[in-house]
Amino acid sequence: MTKQERELLKKVIHFVDKINNGKSPHFTATLKWVKKIKPDADLSLQIAAYAHDIERVIRKTSTEVHDKKYGFMGKSYMREHQTTGGKIMANFLKQNRSEQSVIDKVKHLIKNHEYGGDKESNILKDADSASFFEKNIQHFLDRFPDFSKKLIQDKFDFMFNRITSQKVKKSIKPLYLKATNKLEKL
Ligand SMILES: [Fe+2]
Ligand SMILES: [Fe+2]
Repeated sequence: MTKQERELLKKVIHFVDKINNGKSPHFTATLKWVKKIKPDADLSLQIAAYAHDIERVIRKTSTEVHDKKYGFMGKSYMREHQTTGGKIMANFLKQNRSEQSVIDKVKHLIKNHEYGGDKESNILKDADSASFFEKNIQHFLDRFPDFSKKLIQDKFDFMFNRITSQKVKKSIKPLYLKATNKLEKL
């Protein structure tokens, strides 16, 4: 990445951290995994990795209310989560005079981060899943019986089964089984 690109990534990280009131282990680990899966990941993919869940950060409270009512993976919520996140980051990048190609690509990647669909959206999706099993499991277990076991297991299954890369899937499997086991014992 050029110096200018590194500076823009820094600005994105600062923007996300500020809204989040600090560093999110999930965002940091998603970026780490993207670079692990694709060491030459470009600026857009790295920005999308760090900012993919920006919608969730901004809508924290209403999202939790929504989760309780419809589950974590309602199709309409997922669509909104991805589209709104893409728009928020596109606006931020525009304000920071980013190149149009970067704006378009970040928007596309965030819009597709839950289901993937092309090579780089799949990389982001896989990194998101890997980061989830590394960093988010205890958070979900702590929320039982706020949510039913089935709802949490469904989320674990979704996050694991959607992984495209067999290599990532294999390395994450022990964490997936461990999470399932822990949930079972609650
Ligand atoms: Fe997401
Ligand atoms: Fe995520």
